[in-house]
Amino acid sequence: METIHTISGMKQVSREARAKGRVVGLIPTMGALHEGHFSLVREAQRRCSPVVVSIFVNPAQFGPSEDFQKYPRSLESDRAALEALGVDYLFAPAPEEMYPAGFCTSVVVEGLSDRLEGRSRQGHFRGVATVVAKLFEMVGPSFAYFGRKDAQQARIIRQMTRDLDIETQIVTCPIVRESDGLALSSRNLYLAGDDRRAATALYRSLESLERQVAAGESDVARLLAAARGVLSAEPRVKIDYAEIVDADTLEPVMSLRGSCLVLLAATVGSTRLIDNALVEQEGDSFRATV
Ligand code: PAJ
Repeated sequence: METIHTISGMKQVSREARAKGRVVGLIPTMGALHEGHFSLVREAQRRCSPVVVSIFVNPAQFGPSEDFQKYPRSLESDRAALEALGVDYLFAPAPEEMYPAGFCTSVVVEGLSDRLEGRSRQGHFRGVATVVAKLFEMVGPSFAYFGRKDAQQARIIRQMTRDLDIETQIVTCPIVRESDGLALSSRNLYLAGDDRRAATALYRSLESLERQVAAGESDVARLLAAARGVLSAEPRVKIDYAEIVDADTLEPVMSLRGSCLVLLAATVGSTRLIDNALVEQEGDSFRATV
């Protein structure tokens, strides 16, 4: 595996690969890699070569009171893990190169970015869309892999490629979870003791919703009341939002239809966590995937 630190170096490598007709795959990450990230790598390796993983803790997507400074950074162990997985290139650009003095352009996906995570984290998706657009330009991937863990993010990036005619296909991959259901996240490193135990409430709430959907419940108010009930029973958990939205528009729905997302955000102690379930119509009934 080769590690590339410069934008010019990355562009040269990807230009050469494309000239040889190779299919470049990109997995954008902020590092502190875990099985969730690795699952994206394995999926990319099924049809892409070379596979590029980028690691860049993107200051533009953190709010002023958020955890940019303390966000876990573990480049050396990340590098070793990616090497062991057989990744071709690790792209780890320097912040000064990503955002040189005088940088003043950003990508805003309107509407989709304003709700849910975007409402709680002002400017977050502007930072995400901008850095991902830049990474796409640097790497020129045919395919880019995103986790459904960040469902709104994946939806926004898909919209961005559509609107800006970016020829990168967005692949969304399933959520990887701990054995007790907690969705893997770099921020789980912040959870200790009672907070770590309480954090499973998000999964338990989605799991109970999954059972209700399987039993035929399709009324969103009732589904959400039950989901909120599970979260509220955990005193360490403070709900930010719990919504059921259309998977395409991210607008709230009254009853299940087509493809919906159940989106949860909550703070456990001082750690903010998100999780979700996808609910899809199958004939006359619905099935939730957690
Ligand atoms: P990061 O949080 O490092 O996540 C990188 C990718 O891994 C995202 O697509 C995310 O959805 C996916 N991922 C994280 N946890 C996962 C899990 N448990 N199961 C499956 N996939 C998971 O998301 C970002 O970084 C940044 O916003 C980024 C897109 C890199 C832009 O800076």
